[in-house]
Amino acid sequence: MSKLRLGVLVSGGGSNLQSIIDNVESGYLPVEIAIVISSKDGVYALERAKRHNIPSTVVIPRNYKSREDYEDELIKILNSYNVGLVILAGYIKVLSLHFVRSFPNRIMNIHPALIPSFCGEGYYGSKVHKAVMDYGAKITGVTVHFVDEGADTGPIILQRAVPVKDDDTPETLAARVLEQEHKIYPDAIKLYAEDRLKIYGRKVKIFSKEEF
Ligand code: GRF
Repeated sequence: MSKLRLGVLVSGGGSNLQSIIDNVESGYLPVEIAIVISSKDGVYALERAKRHNIPSTVVIPRNYKSREDYEDELIKILNSYNVGLVILAGYIKVLSLHFVRSFPNRIMNIHPALIPSFCGEGYYGSKVHKAVMDYGAKITGVTVHFVDEGADTGPIILQRAVPVKDDDTPETLAARVLEQEHKIYPDAIKLYAEDRLKIYGRKVKIFSKEEF
């Protein structure tokens, strides 16, 4: 059987991309990273792809006359690389229904908080951790979910809690959350690659290996 092919969308440093690369290279993830697409030029995620001989390209939204044209370009590239699962890894654009419908239940995102808290429009990067701390929450975490047309609203696949410490800053909290991101995202991708995820409405059921 041929391996699941991933298309990874990035906009920044790409530490989640790196954790996926490492887990592919160690043999934990039975997938191939077919293409990395960045929405920004010169980001470190592109360097990571290059170092591991993974094809990469830059598609900048503002170079297209509409969101649909931009997303059509993404869809064209992903299809030309026979991508079976789209992975958003620190990718900062919200994708429209047009894009989501092209990859139904085949797009995953990671969010650095416990959805449905501290998520949605405007909650990205350090803003999430600052909001958690300003609110005085004692626990935050990580969520991997399928992407629907909303911002962080799709069915939840895996979540992991991370404690907020009294002496945390948004930076120290982000670093502790990121450590968990690097574990949970490969776990979710592995479940998908092993065909162990089934979606029932909003709920994702995880099947054990024995059930298959
Ligand atoms: C991560 O916290 C991710 O959850 C969020 O953006 C951050 C980017 O991390 N969506 P990286 O680019 O993978 O290092």
